[in-house]
Amino acid sequence: MITKKNTYVILASFLFLSTQALDIYQSTTPVEKSKDEGKQVFERFACNSCHGNSGEMEGDFSTLKERFTAETLPEYINNPQAYDNKQMPVYDGMISDSEMEDLVAYLFLLGEELNRSDD
Ligand code: HEC
Repeated sequence: MITKKNTYVILASFLFLSTQALDIYQSTTPVEKSKDEGKQVFERFACNSCHGNSGEMEGDFSTLKERFTAETLPEYINNPQAYDNKQMPVYDGMISDSEMEDLVAYLFLLGEELNRSDD
């Protein structure tokens, strides 16, 4: 039997469920979040001015994953001169650990995207 009280319960449940569904719909996945933040770091430090927005300019981002790990790539970025790269600025101490984490994930992602567009 549908009483007035039951109607409220049904309405309340419906509202609750729809806000839950909306939350799930609006939340971005961790990968997407890291990608967005990595992109922002890449632009904030003007990496894109030499490397291009898709990493298509200086260097070869498509093979980064074969030559670097998430541990060694920050070392390169912080001190490219140690890797015989005298054209790139030294970023040592400028990029925070969490920015570097997002940045490195983003660089590997750009590499994957470059590989995909090569096919
Ligand atoms: C003034 C120009 C310039 C800027 C700004 C710059 N780079 Fe570079 N970067 C270079 C050059 C030149 C190379 C060397 C390319 C090569 O060895 O062929 C390089 C190499 C690299 C490499 C290694 C590429 C490879 O194929 O071995 C990575 C990774 C990289 N840069 C990341 C970054 C990041 C991240 C930033 C921003 C924080 C940045 N660069 C800013 C010029 C720049």
